[in-house]
Amino acid sequence: MSYQIAVDGPGGAGKSTIAKAVARARGCIYVDTGAMYRAMALYLIRHEVDPEDKKAIEEACGSADISIEYRDGEQVVLLNGENVNACIRTEQVGNMASVCSVVPAVRRKLVELQQRLAAKSDVVMDGRDIGTVVLPEADVKIYLTAGSRTRAMRRCMELKAKGEDADLEKVQADIEERDYRDMHREDSPLRQAEDAVLVDSSDMTIEQVVERILSLCR
Ligand code: DC
Repeated sequence: MSYQIAVDGPGGAGKSTIAKAVARARGCIYVDTGAMYRAMALYLIRHEVDPEDKKAIEEACGSADISIEYRDGEQVVLLNGENVNACIRTEQVGNMASVCSVVPAVRRKLVELQQRLAAKSDVVMDGRDIGTVVLPEADVKIYLTAGSRTRAMRRCMELKAKGEDADLEKVQADIEERDYRDMHREDSPLRQAEDAVLVDSSDMTIEQVVERILSLCR
């Protein structure tokens, strides 16, 4: 049986940075499930699928073949064979990912892929429903969160570092809208699993959070 660490929480809580560091420390693979929903979103945007039209999303998602490879230790997301890592980190794709992830057909398809990956190797997997739905038997479950203002400030710093414009109020409003949608959807909403450990990273450094998780694994 593979060793599984599940990290769930709202966007911008630092899940991917932390999960990557934990995976490095434990020598296992890191699976970023948000990137899979983002690849699906990119497919829908490119095919001009109406975000309001759930039926159209359901139909279109069948033609998006999403898979994962590891190149030099980095997760590469392939959309119909194309490496889309460089195209999926925009606000537009993030918002569409949040919208399309409410559609059960999209979730079924991606959850199956995630479970196949975790059956093959030891993983640190991050997302919204990892501890509750994807890997309910995970060895360690973390619910990583931080206040929406803190998360918006972190996101603005990232955007500015990339040379992009960032308006704090707008970024915070987007984060809160996405939180609401992720927490209130019918299929696999974001929530803390009963056996997950709550970690609030608002006043913690990355190293402190990583150490907390590694000590839980020990
Ligand atoms: O973590 P992220 O911002 O890359 O995720 C993008 C969107 O994908 C997020 O708004 C919700 C959705 N998502 C999900 O529904 N389930 C997951 N396991 C991961 C992401």
